Amino acid sequence: MFITFEGGEGTGKSTQALILAEILKKHDVKVVLTREPGGSPGAEIIRNLLVTGSVDRWSTMSEVLLMYAARADHWQNTIQCALAQGSWVLCDRFADSTVAYQGYGRGVDQEFLQLLYKYIVGDVQPDCTFVFDLDVDEGLKRATARMEGNTVVEGRFEAMDIAFHKRIRAGFLEIAKKNSNRCTVLQANAHPQEIHRKILNILHEKGVLPWNNLLA
Ligand code: TMP
Repeated sequence: MFITFEGGEGTGKSTQALILAEILKKHDVKVVLTREPGGSPGAEIIRNLLVTGSVDRWSTMSEVLLMYAARADHWQNTIQCALAQGSWVLCDRFADSTVAYQGYGRGVDQEFLQLLYKYIVGDVQPDCTFVFDLDVDEGLKRATARMEGNTVVEGRFEAMDIAFHKRIRAGFLEIAKKNSNRCTVLQANAHPQEIHRKILNILHEKGVLPWNNLLA
């Protein structure tokens, strides 16, 4: 199973990916919890270039190509290997983030992004994508609070203007609509435990959970 967690800033997707990974492991499922940009040694180096520094550090095209350079390394060295070994892969952001941030957010041609996907990832798509939706102001407030006290500030995208973040939110909803076979939109302002239950329910409905009792 290849599951991706997508959404804007401060939507709580990383927390949910972690909770799901833990319950799966408790049931002896092999799980690789990973993230983008990053998730392999090389891609983590590229992540650092992307998420730190000034907002205008990279041109739009440099940003896209760095995201895909990181993804190529992560795909080859982490995700493909884990899937081949029968592990579940839970990925905190994947290619939908590029479509939302660089496509809807920064205006990069969607066909070009599709082409990159095809060359780097191929025909594989996530089996299931959770799209976390939240009011932009609320999400940015949460993300900023989380960064306070961190020595390395990964705040380059958070510092981009509100209009950009609103385009991203709308973009994710559009992506979810266009890919309704694999995407489920989750209201991210619900209680984390309630969101977790919803995630388990959806996986249960898809018949992929290796246990029957949802309360287990
Ligand atoms: P994170 O804070 O969720 O770890 O993600 C780092 C930032 O990278 C986040 O602000 C979204 C951004 N991003 C893109 O702009 N495009 C992408 O393709 C990915 C994976 C992340």
